[in-house]
Amino acid sequence: MIAIDGPAGTGKSSVSRRVAAALGANYIDTGAMYRVATLRALRAGVALDDPEAIDKATEGVRISVTNDAEKQVVLMDDDDVSDEIRRDEVTRAVSAVSAVPAVRARLVQAQRDQAQTGLSVLEGRDIGTVVFPDAELKVYLTATPEARAQRRHEQNIAAGMDSDYQTVLADVIRRDHLDSTRSTSPLRPADDAVQVDTTDLGIEEVIAKLVELARNRIGVEA
Ligand code: DC
Repeated sequence: MIAIDGPAGTGKSSVSRRVAAALGANYIDTGAMYRVATLRALRAGVALDDPEAIDKATEGVRISVTNDAEKQVVLMDDDDVSDEIRRDEVTRAVSAVSAVPAVRARLVQAQRDQAQTGLSVLEGRDIGTVVFPDAELKVYLTATPEARAQRRHEQNIAAGMDSDYQTVLADVIRRDHLDSTRSTSPLRPADDAVQVDTTDLGIEEVIAKLVELARNRIGVEA
């Protein structure tokens, strides 16, 4: 089990996907699961400050996240929501939904079930602290808020979306605050996590570092 945690904009998704491919491991994007729960709550029209309503609205939703080398396909029940879960509306609401303990309990269970067979790379916020506290390798990726906002801003532009750097930076800071101060599973490095600051590292360098760590720690061939 390899846990990769950290805030948004550290390159965590691209790095986790590529590290999993290099190791022949399963890749599990837990953020995508929280995004589906959020979309479900938004579609149900529940108030985001009503944890009980969020719990009810998201109970029983079937979430499927599959990845191949080219594309990630995310299903909510049988609906393809791969693009919709990346929209701003979902990104803005996800901290509220992922702070609800009942939602977290269900998704943590689903994550544990999915990682039952073979080597898995799980990417999220609480993998090393809560989901798999016994993971063989725990990595915590960091970068300055400015570097993370700059990356998100460039991704938005590349995706053809309108983007304003200052707005993106404010959102990065707001989400960091919400994610790290919530009472259930706040975002924080596990005591035994290897912290990697990606501010001045290219993605290839980060991948190489993690693959090497995995080789040394758990003896997997890559
Ligand atoms: O990695 P991401 O931006 O797609 O994650 C979306 C949100 O989901 C993020 O703001 C925090 C939440 N999340 C969480 O609370 N726990 C996880 N294991 C993964 C994501």
